[in-house]
Amino acid sequence: MSTLFPPLTQARIQGMAAYQALCDEAERDYAGYWARLGREYISWKQPFTKSLDDSQAPFFKWFEDGLLNVSYNCLDRHVEAGRGDRTAIIFETDDGQVRNTSYSQLLALTCRLANALKAKGVKKGDRVVIYMPMSVEGVAAMQACARIGATHSVVFGGFSAQSLRDRIQDAGAVALITADEQLRGGKALPLKAIVDDALADGACPTLKDVIVYKRTGGAINWTAHRDHWLHELTEQQPETCEPEWVDAEHPLFLLYTSGSTGKPKGVQHSSGGYLLHAALTTSWTFDLQDSDVFWCTADIGWVTGHSYIAYGPLALGGTELVFEGVPTYPDAGRFWQMIQKHKVTVFYTAPTAIRSLIKAAETTPAVHPKNYDLSSLRILGSVGEPINPAAWLWYYENVGGSRCPIMDTWWQTETGGHMITPLPGVTPQLPGSCTLPFPGIQAAIVDETGHDVPNGQGGILVVKKPWPSMIRTIWGDPERYKKSYFPEELKGYYLAGDGASRAADTGYFTITGRIDDVLNVSGHRMGTMEIESALVSHTELVAEAAVVGRPDDLTGEAICAFVVLKRSRPTGDEAKAIANELRNWVAKEIGPIAKPKEIRFGDNLPKTRSGKIMRRLLRSLAKGEAVTQDTSTLENPAILDQLAKAN
Ligand code: WTA
Repeated sequence: MSTLFPPLTQARIQGMAAYQALCDEAERDYAGYWARLGREYISWKQPFTKSLDDSQAPFFKWFEDGLLNVSYNCLDRHVEAGRGDRTAIIFETDDGQVRNTSYSQLLALTCRLANALKAKGVKKGDRVVIYMPMSVEGVAAMQACARIGATHSVVFGGFSAQSLRDRIQDAGAVALITADEQLRGGKALPLKAIVDDALADGACPTLKDVIVYKRTGGAINWTAHRDHWLHELTEQQPETCEPEWVDAEHPLFLLYTSGSTGKPKGVQHSSGGYLLHAALTTSWTFDLQDSDVFWCTADIGWVTGHSYIAYGPLALGGTELVFEGVPTYPDAGRFWQMIQKHKVTVFYTAPTAIRSLIKAAETTPAVHPKNYDLSSLRILGSVGEPINPAAWLWYYENVGGSRCPIMDTWWQTETGGHMITPLPGVTPQLPGSCTLPFPGIQAAIVDETGHDVPNGQGGILVVKKPWPSMIRTIWGDPERYKKSYFPEELKGYYLAGDGASRAADTGYFTITGRIDDVLNVSGHRMGTMEIESALVSHTELVAEAAVVGRPDDLTGEAICAFVVLKRSRPTGDEAKAIANELRNWVAKEIGPIAKPKEIRFGDNLPKTRSGKIMRRLLRSLAKGEAVTQDTSTLENPAILDQLAKAN
């Protein structure tokens, strides 16, 4: 067995026996276990009498007859308990200014915003799109929606006008909250201008109001009656707002994510079950205590920013750091400098950030973490993609001072919170392994027919029983929900879409990556089909396109596109120029994160005689591997040589 790294000697869940006891409790009485935690972690206006309802499987319900309000749980209850002066959010701007917001202040801001939404006619069940920079106002916007029972859909500020428009339309949103601009890496980037673009030509008829947070004061266009300044709307509003009590199944939010086919899907989450797991995992995986300063570096546009910025830490009354900027500005020591300055104790980031900071520290010794006092840290976390053992060890030694356990948390937009992860006081860690299921989560590895695969062998990662924070449906497409996550051959198990294996000795899980046509680039999920559609929508130039992933040292996976043009195949500088044009096109269609790293042009694509593109061959070509697969069914084998080389 490889070296295991020790857990902490003191944490809320301490020792393997305590972990086992929780797993046993869930085994004995699954619904009762979650009901106990649901009562402990959430304040209910009206207690639930039912735990799991599986009568309409796979449309599961949890705590259905309980009434709650998520923002009450995240804000009011701490203020009522006399903890209103506690700092909820330490916000640091891109240019290093710091603003502390107490629980009382965050509650007041949330209530004003909630009242403003109500004044604009936003009601329980309406959808509100949030297209905001990292900010206290961004978190408050989410909380304000929760307060009035509106379902938010946060769209990452890096998505294009087209992507934003698609999401507004799919959700049928009635209002949108944005900012004039966002400040990242010393640059002001437009948000409102992109919103204007998304809404142009009456593209989003359901959307009535745009609320604009003034971040930079940069020049923007204004549409009378539709656009409103956030500060003008909120200053007229009272600081209190009675929470809308909703049932536990009420949709708290939609979050769009890529699948293997078609357009991004709106993953729908509940209020009660979701909040329980966000709070519970923050408590157990990060051992969040009153003395902690928690920092999750994700953006609120991703699920990690929902569960571990907007909801989990606040539900526990914790203190968290929220950062507007990027890890490399003003230099690549920014994270370490901020940990030192704010005495961060729990730090949660992504492997891609760690890898890029390793590289930066190698070339610029001044930004190496050893130049900073990181002694406040006690727990580290990783999320979004597999962390390679070399990056794990660097993180452990150089950031954690060989003292802080690393929580390699495996989960997904659809799971709402951590599913397989070490616990800080429990689990000896193995670099590159997310170790063991969170207590109660029935993660397993099966074959294509849903049968268990013995430890030591790889297979398909599934979750055998429903859990409180699971996806409830795909917004507007319950059939796709069933088909994507509960395929018939898997006996009703939840299909995660990842491959995994379990170690023969420890039973530890290792995630081997997606088994579908979803790529993971710097921890961002991208459907290959989405990028292909974006490319072929350039109808003037592109005849056909196929997109595959290939391993990349920095970004985990990189996007490689094979393109057939409507004109003859370009070479040299011309090929470079066209590739650039197409990369920018994809950025405009989806967002800069979807830009292919490489584009290769061919006269054709490798196809079977029935016309199917052989993606497996393209994957080998993208990696620069010799093609060893059987090519006898290939219509046009000569094309492989042409596509094997960069243009
Ligand atoms: C991958 C992010 C390995 C996985 C929370 C999953 C991981 C997808 C890990 C979900 C991890 C996430 N180790 N792979 N610790 N965490 N993944 O929806 O492929 O943006 O299916 O949620 O990221 O990405 P999503």
